[in-house]
Amino acid sequence: MYQFGHAIWWYGAPMALLSFIEANDLSGKQVYLFCSHGTGGLAGSVDDIEDALPDSAVLSDNVFDVYEEEASESQSGILSWLSDLGY
Ligand SMILES: Cc1cc2nc3c(=O)[nH]c(=O)nc-3n(C[C@H](O)[C@H](O)[C@H](O)COP(=O)(O)O)c2cc1C
Repeated sequence: MYQFGHAIWWYGAPMALLSFIEANDLSGKQVYLFCSHGTGGLAGSVDDIEDALPDSAVLSDNVFDVYEEEASESQSGILSWLSDLGY
């Protein structure tokens, strides 16, 4: 299982994360995503990550995301998300 935390840069996943994915074999792994963003929301980031991980199980319908200005108050939401995932 992998959890990727990332920001949104220019309407998508940051290149640093895509470079990490490129450099590591995540075939067959489950991947959970959590993300902070500005007013643009998740934009194309989940698609970017799914496209980069064709052989992994990306949990794209249960991404935790938070508006950057609310990130400091997101602890309970994150704990609840993890609990829903079984952690
Ligand atoms: C280069 C750059 C590009 C960004 N592009 C977007 C964007 O397209 N949409 C959006 O909602 N937020 C965008 N943001 C805002 C970031 O997502 C936000 O600052 C980040 O989630 C805050 O988390 P951090 O403190 O961990 O960087 C951008 C920020 C930077 C620095």
